[in-house]
Amino acid sequence: MVIMDSLLCPPLCSFNRFSFSSAIHLLLLISTFMSSSPKTSVLCKCKNPPAIFNFGDSNSDTGGLVAGLGYSINLPNGRTFFRRSSGRLSDGRLIIDFLCQSVNTTFLTPYLDSMGSIFSNGVNFAIVGSSTLPKYVPFSLNIQVMQFLHFKGRSVQLVTAGSMHFLGDEGFRNGLYMIDIGQNDLSDSFAKNLSYVQVVKKIPSIILEIRYSIEEIYAQGGRRFWVHNTGPLGCLPQKLSLVQKVSDDLDPYGCLSSYNDAAGLFNEALLHLCEELRSEYKDATIVYVDIYTIKYDLIANSSNYGFSSPLMACCGFGGPPYNYDIRVTCGHPGYQVCNEGSKYISWDGIHYSEAANSIVASKILSTDYSTPRIAFDYFCN
Ligand SMILES: *[C@@H]1O[C@H](CO)[C@@H](O)[C@H](O)[C@H]1NC(C)=O
Ligand SMILES: *[C@@H]1O[C@H](CO)[C@@H](O)[C@H](O)[C@H]1NC(C)=O
Ligand SMILES: *[C@@H]1O[C@H](CO)[C@@H](O)[C@H](O)[C@H]1NC(C)=O
Repeated sequence: MVIMDSLLCPPLCSFNRFSFSSAIHLLLLISTFMSSSPKTSVLCKCKNPPAIFNFGDSNSDTGGLVAGLGYSINLPNGRTFFRRSSGRLSDGRLIIDFLCQSVNTTFLTPYLDSMGSIFSNGVNFAIVGSSTLPKYVPFSLNIQVMQFLHFKGRSVQLVTAGSMHFLGDEGFRNGLYMIDIGQNDLSDSFAKNLSYVQVVKKIPSIILEIRYSIEEIYAQGGRRFWVHNTGPLGCLPQKLSLVQKVSDDLDPYGCLSSYNDAAGLFNEALLHLCEELRSEYKDATIVYVDIYTIKYDLIANSSNYGFSSPLMACCGFGGPPYNYDIRVTCGHPGYQVCNEGSKYISWDGIHYSEAANSIVASKILSTDYSTPRIAFDYFCN
């Protein structure tokens, strides 16, 4: 398993050739060696992490559903790292938590969390279950962006009035805007019994919503974007257990090909959107990250990463092959949970375990899956 220290010090973090600040990094590096402290962790200082604004669904919700709707997410969620339920759908940290730690910034506070919240490091608008369409429905992507507009105006006012808990103009201008959404659009479409062809036909309108959000944030002065594509939907134990499987729809690893193909087409369109926006907005940096390939490799080559039963949930009901039952989901009466979550990729049949998230995050930080290959700490100011 990947441990924290390696995340705090991703191998490439000081050698980003796209970075204007790489010269400064290099100087730091040299002076570090001269001051005879060869510890690599020192090279990875991110003295001024960017404010991070995140938009998305449960893959990156750090407590928004619980704060916003009073919904409870019970233990064993959170058992691994937080040792309490933290409002995340996982046994521990999410990918976004590891990314925050890699630039030495604290975990993002949900926008809807009214309990003594501090937003000086950014804010998380992501909420469990969110999709892009239909819009104007809590908490669709366009509502999350509207919340951002409100947050921005108010935050700047409060900072002007002397508050330290919010962000001023500069924080927004230099901020990193992250988007990870689309999984529920595809998932909901399949759940409504739409055919593969019908689902695929919806992709352009989903992508258009993502375009509108980026355009709006750009209009507000945002220039740095970090876009995650969607993972292999057809490998989720939940999908595998619900769908009446036609065996010729299963790929060599036991995942549903039609679901994965739809995710693949969505990702192609998203990649294309990022290319278009890059040529329209010459002064913007837009990084597209191929989460799909990272997660699919994790499942296909699970034993190399120390995982067993890549298609089975650690926490759920029913036992093999998927341990998922929609009537008895993780944290609800009657659930069963594995002892060693670190041996499972899937935590609850839909969301990944902390162990899996940690590996995904370290692969994101490698830049091998990024277009263009810009490191996450490029955005440190
Ligand atoms: C991380 O941040 C803390 C507090 O903001 C600071 O004291 C510490 O030096 C930082 N560490 C690194 C490696 O930048
Ligand atoms: C989808 O189709 C299945 C089998 O044909 C049926 O049992 C189920 O009720 C349908 N679901 C919806 C939401 O229409
Ligand atoms: C499994 O690992 C091999 C070796 O690293 C790699 O070439 C292959 O692409 C991986 N499979 C998938 C489906 O990612």
